[in-house]
Amino acid sequence: MSLVVFPFKEEDPEVLLRNVKVALDHPRVKEVLCVGASEDHCFRAVSAAIPDLSREYGKPVNVIVQERIGELRPGKGDGMNTALKYFLERTDHERVHFYDADIVSFSEEWITKAEEAADEGYQVVRHYFPRSSTDAMITWFITRTGFALLWPKSVLPWIEQPIGGELLLTREAAGVLFSDHRVRRQSDWGIDTLYTFSMAAHGLSIAEIYIGVGKLHKLYGALTDLKTMLIECFAAVQSLKGEAVAEGTVHHVEYPGPVKQEVKEKIGYDIEGTLWLLRENWTDRQAELLGLFPGKVREGLLASRDYPRFAFMDDGLWAEVYGILLEHFEPGDPDWRELLFKLWITRVLQYTTTVALRGYDYAMYYLHRMVADYVHRSLTSG
Ligand code: DGY
Repeated sequence: MSLVVFPFKEEDPEVLLRNVKVALDHPRVKEVLCVGASEDHCFRAVSAAIPDLSREYGKPVNVIVQERIGELRPGKGDGMNTALKYFLERTDHERVHFYDADIVSFSEEWITKAEEAADEGYQVVRHYFPRSSTDAMITWFITRTGFALLWPKSVLPWIEQPIGGELLLTREAAGVLFSDHRVRRQSDWGIDTLYTFSMAAHGLSIAEIYIGVGKLHKLYGALTDLKTMLIECFAAVQSLKGEAVAEGTVHHVEYPGPVKQEVKEKIGYDIEGTLWLLRENWTDRQAELLGLFPGKVREGLLASRDYPRFAFMDDGLWAEVYGILLEHFEPGDPDWRELLFKLWITRVLQYTTTVALRGYDYAMYYLHRMVADYVHRSLTSG
C-alpha cells in the first residue's frame, strides 16, 4: 500500500485538489500528503478542503509545511525530503509516489503503471513522457550532458528524464535516499538531480514507464524563467563530480508510444525574448572570466553585447565549455551565475536554430545521439 505525495508552491488549488482526489480514488493508495513550501493561498485552500475529503474517501489526507532539512536555498528539495522523512518515520506504507502538483493530465494510470512496475520488483519507478523539442533544455544540455561526461559507464546518461519529479520509491529505496547526506543537503531545484544520482550511485533497480498523455504543464516565457533552476541543477552536478556511481544497475525503459501533434508543434520558450538576454547584465568581470574559455566562445559572447551570437556553440564546443564550468564555476558568485546562464542560452539557441528547426523526430534523434556521443567521448578520451 502506498503514500502519494504532492510537493507544491503557489499552485492552483483546484488542480492540486483534483489530483489529490485522483490519488485518493486509487485502491493502492492508503494516504495522501501535500507538502507546501509555505502557508500560501494554495496551502490555505487545500487545508480547508481536506477534512471533507478525508471523510469522503475514508483515508488520511494531510497538508504540512516543508521543514528546513537541507543546506542550500530552501526550495523543492526541502519539500521532497520532508515527505521522505514523513513516509519513513510516520507511516509504514510500502511505497511512496511523488507527483508535481501542477499536472493537469494526472490520472489513475500514472499510479497504476508505477505500482505495476514496482510489483515486478523494481525499487524505483520513474515516469517519463514526450516533451516538445525545445522544452527540457536543462535536462538535455545540463543534466544528461553532465551525466554522460562524468559517469559514462553508469546508468545515469540513459535515464530519460533525470530531473523529472514523478516517481515511485519502495520503502527500501526511500531509506537509501534519505540516509544519503548529499540528498538531504540539497534543499533547492537540484533535488531531482540528487535523487537520480543517489539511486544510481547505490545501484537501485530502476524502471522507467511511459505516460503518453504527458504532463501538459505550462511552458516557459523567455529563458529567464529557468535561470535559478538552471544554476541549481548545474551546481548539483558539479558538487557530485568526484563521486563514485555503481555500474551494472538494472534499468528498464518502456518503449515510447506515438507522440501527439500538439507536443511536436509546441515551442518550448520565447525565442525573441531570449535573444535579448545575451545583451543584458554584462560586467567587466564576466568579460574577464571568459578568458578561461576557448577563443570562439570568448569572441562570440563578447560580440553578443551588441548583437546576439550563438551559431558557434555546437555540441563539441559545449562539451569543452561544460568541462571548464565543472572546474571553475562558483555557484555563490553572481558573475559566474550570469555567465553560466548566457553560455547555456547560446547552446539552446544554437540547437533551436540548427536542430529543432528541422522537426521533432530529427531533434529527438539528435539529442539521444548527442548523449551517446558524449558517453563515447568520455570513455575513449584517456
Ligand atoms: C528541463 O529542462 O527539464 C526543465 O524542466 C525545463 O524545461
